[in-house]
Order: sequence, then C-alpha cells, then structure tokens
Amino acid sequence: MCGIIGILGKTDTVPAMLGALKRLEYRGYDSAGVAVLDDGQIKRRREIGKLQALMNSVGDDPIAGTSGIGHTRWATHGEPTTKNAHPHITSRVAVVHNGIIENFRDLRDELKNLGIICEGESDTEVITKLLDHYLQDGMDPVTAFKAMISRVTGAYALAVLMSGEKDLMLGARRGSPLVIGLGDGEMFFGSDALALADLTNRLIYMEEGDLAVLSHSKAEIYDKNDTLVQRKISFSHISGALIDRGNHRHFMQKEIYEQPTVVAQTLGRYLNPNTGTIALPAMDFSLANISKITLVACGTSYYAALVAKYWIEQYAHVSVDVDIASEFRYRNPVYAQGGLCLFISQSGETADTLAALRHAKDAGQHVGVIVNAAESSMAREAALVMHTHAGPEIGVASTKAFTCQLAVLAAFTVALGVERSVIETSRSRALVAELESAPTLISKILSDHDPIISMADKLASARDILFVGRGIQYPIALEGALKLKELSYIHAEGYAAGELKHGPIALIDEHVPVIGIAPKGEISKKTISNLQEIAARKGNVILVSDDISLSTEFKGAFIMPTAGQFIEPLVYAIPVQLIAYYTAVAKGTDVDQPRNLAKAVTVE
Ligand code: M6R
Repeated sequence: MCGIIGILGKTDTVPAMLGALKRLEYRGYDSAGVAVLDDGQIKRRREIGKLQALMNSVGDDPIAGTSGIGHTRWATHGEPTTKNAHPHITSRVAVVHNGIIENFRDLRDELKNLGIICEGESDTEVITKLLDHYLQDGMDPVTAFKAMISRVTGAYALAVLMSGEKDLMLGARRGSPLVIGLGDGEMFFGSDALALADLTNRLIYMEEGDLAVLSHSKAEIYDKNDTLVQRKISFSHISGALIDRGNHRHFMQKEIYEQPTVVAQTLGRYLNPNTGTIALPAMDFSLANISKITLVACGTSYYAALVAKYWIEQYAHVSVDVDIASEFRYRNPVYAQGGLCLFISQSGETADTLAALRHAKDAGQHVGVIVNAAESSMAREAALVMHTHAGPEIGVASTKAFTCQLAVLAAFTVALGVERSVIETSRSRALVAELESAPTLISKILSDHDPIISMADKLASARDILFVGRGIQYPIALEGALKLKELSYIHAEGYAAGELKHGPIALIDEHVPVIGIAPKGEISKKTISNLQEIAARKGNVILVSDDISLSTEFKGAFIMPTAGQFIEPLVYAIPVQLIAYYTAVAKGTDVDQPRNLAKAVTVE
C-alpha cells in the first residue's frame, strides 16, 4: 500500500527521495509526490500513474531542498487524482500519510465551521488543514502536531515538514508502520526498511502510538503517554540491490525461480537432516497440551493455512479452525482454553491479520506467527515467531513467500505430531526426508515447463477458468485461481472437485478451461472422475498430474515429477504459479504491479 520517505539531509534530497519511492513501488500505488523545503518554503510535485510521471515532472520543472518528504499513494479516500495525491500542503505544512483517518468527516465539518475548506475527498487533506490551523493559532510545531494527533482516530503513519523549519521533521505511527533511519548528520523516515535501504542501515522501528521529532543530529521519540522514550536501534541487512530483477523479465518470475533456494533456506532453519528431527523456536507452552489450533490469514497466506489444516489434522491429529482474518474478530470466535492461534503473513503488517492477532492475544490464547518480514509488527507482537526465509518479495503476487510458508507449516506439523507422540521417530525421519527433496523437485519443474507456456497462450483468451482439486490439493486450486485472476484479470475460481456437480458444473461449456490438479493416489481417482464429467460436457480439461498414463486422457496435460505425498501441495504450487504468470505475460498485463492491488494491505 502507500509508501513514505522523509529525509532531513545535507544535500538536495529529491534524487534520494525518488530512489526511495522507486524501492517502494512494489507496495502498489496509483499516484506519487514529493515536497521539499526550498529556502524555507514548501515546494511540491505530484503526479498520477507510475513514478516515471513524477520523475518527468521533476525533470521538467525541478525542485530542490535539503529536507523533503515523498509518498506513493494507493487510493482509499478519494479517487487516484492529482488533487488527492500526497504530499498535502498548505503554506505552513506538508504531510504524507499512510492509513485511514476514520473521523475525517467530523474534522472536515469542524474546519468548515471555522471557514477552512477542504477541496478534495482525501482524509489526509483534512488533517493537513487541521495542523495548519493549530500553527496559525500560534502553537509551536511540536505542540501543534501533538494537538492534531490527539484529535484523530484511525490508522496512520505520518511524516511532516513545516515551512521555515529546516532542522525539523515530525512523524507518528498508529496502525501503520513507520521506521526512523539514523544517518550521519542526517535523519530519515520510511514506511519500511526497503525505503531506507541505501540511505542508512541503522533503524528504529516506531511502536504503536509513538511520535518522533527529528533534527539533523537527533531523534526524540515520545510514546503514547507523551513520555520521552529510548527505542532499540536495529541494524538492517536489506540492500537496494535486492530490488533488482537480474536477468528476469519480472520480479515475479525471479521470485518463482528463487523457490528452490529459499525453500531450502527456510527448511534449513528447522530441519536436522542427520537426526531426521525438527526444531522449532523456544516457546513458553507445550505443544503436547494444545487442544485446538486456529490459523488466521488473508489471501494467499490463508490458502497456506488451509493446506496446513489438512496436514495438521491428518498427521498430528489436532483439530484446526481456519479463518479469514477480516472475518475473524467480528464473528466472536469461541477460543479453546489454552488454544494456539497461528497468524500467517508475508508482510507481517496486514491490518486484518494484525488486528486478529491482538484479539487472540487479549483473549489469552497462545499466539504465534509465521512471517517473512522479520521486523514487522506481527513478528514483534507474537510470543512464538516462525520466520520464513524467502527474502524480500517484491512482486505483488505472492509466490516464494507461499511455498516458504508451506515449508514452515509442514515442519511445524511434524514437530507437533512428534511432540504429541502421534508421529514416531521413523515416520518423522521419512517426512523430513520428503521435505528435503522438495527444492530439487521444484527445480525440476522450473527447468522443464515449456508445455505450460503454450498452454498459457491459449488460456489468455479465456473469459472464465476453473481450478479444481480434492483434499489437500483443493487449497492449491484456490491459490491457482487467485493467482490467475490477480495477474491476468481473467475470472477464475477454485473448487473442490467433488463440489462441481452441486452447481458450478452449470458453467461448463467448450469455452471454459478447467485445470485439474490431481497427483497420483487414492483420491486422484475421484478427481479424475470429476474431470471426466467435465470433459463429457465439452469442458476443456487440462490435467496437472504425475500420472503419465493420463497424459492423453484430456485436452491438455502437464506431467509433474512424482513427489512424496506429504510434500505434494508444496510442489503443485509451482505449476499453478507458472500458469498464472505465463497467462498474464501472454495477455500483457502488469505482472509485478497488477491494477488495484497493494503488496501489504495495511488498512481494513
Ligand atoms: O502479507 P500477507 O501475507 O499478510 O498478505 C496477505 C494477502 O494480502 C496476500 O497474500 C495477497 O492475497 C497476495 N496478493 C496474493 O498473491
């Protein structure tokens, strides 16, 4: 979602701000802007569309200044127009904001009664005018900022410049992350560590309710009680070089190809191949005593949770509930005494998942996370943190983070089963060995998937596409459909193959491709029967299976390497990613930044 950069620098900040906004592009945005203090006066440029438009605008009509703030906006309140783009300014202040100010209508009415009119529909414009009003009333900058903050409800990360204040930048966070970067005679704000990569590696992750007053030489932080506090300095290893596509056409393609490495890297943190055992991070409760597990996540991470339900119930014999995070806390969930709630997230910042985590924590549940962004809010708020080691995922569509989530969930399942004495040592060794074979199998698919490319060329002209699977492949069918629709904008749905006859089969005709995911095994016989029912109705079936004897049974087939049954979902995730990727390429859509999508959804 929206991205923030703020720089109190020594030289002109505009090139560095544009570089930071480039690194923030992956979050998804529809307009961008920068503002600087030029001789104490606020100067601003804003453009809708891609960052290049802003770069052109700054090139055509340059602005410069040693302090500046910049923003990429993903529209929430108000359309993606230049008027609604950030920074919002008055003659006294410039503001960039991530999040949603919930009481902006009340504040706008209040300002109107004072004769102060807001021209756009943006909530940020309202708080900018409110801050300006307090300054005009004679408050000093910090008092005015605190007064403004005390009036707003909702979520925000803010960075603020004030005219005539060359040695001052203000920031605050509640609900949306904000990081302070400590430089050498320079200070920075960023919405994440990537924004600040190449500027500094000394970071302070602001906590909920923190407000920061930056000068060139120091960062003062006030907590939610307005007490001056010291926060831990972290050292970031993220470099701007990580946001390089290398020889790949898209970040998504690069990330798909990284999977053998990052899945192996992730498994390496949990598996001991010599003993065939799994070590999870230390926890202050015993897995043996857990009566129920609740898995909560959004989007692709939710599908990882669905896969895990099959794994945990089948292999570790623990009852699992799976919830969409945005539904979780509003349905008043019944928590089991001493239950474990696991939250799954690539970004660790997804607003609904974070809110669900806090709900479970307040209810006294054991709370764990499976998270990719190591310094994210979720990683900092959970007692049990199981990291995926996928590295930064830049493509909006999640690929390598998903397979790494599955790797951790599989390892967790085995550890849980062993802890509860339902998986014996020999079984554990066999499952660990299967997991270790996953990276090689993924490599094999990646090095030999030409049939998917020609398949995708045909799929690109479809209007609707179905993905079907049974058992643990059902969530992979759902993931395939999500990936395809978000990338190619083709309507796609995932179904449990056995459900088709209960309604969706009415959709089938010769124009509807149906991708059947059916690794060889007992349950695949049932899936194949369901696919035959589709073929009998002229449905255009494409089979994804390791059963070579079925390679000519349907109109199309992609033959997979044979994988151990336990790791099949991890391996079958790859062809559905490739189908979505190549279909989008064939359609010519924006693969890395599909329309309307944001990488981390930090608002409800
Ligand atoms: O960062 P998270 O894993 O919490 O994100 C959850 C979803 O927003 C995310 O998986 C989304 O569905 C992706 N665009 C899927 O490719």
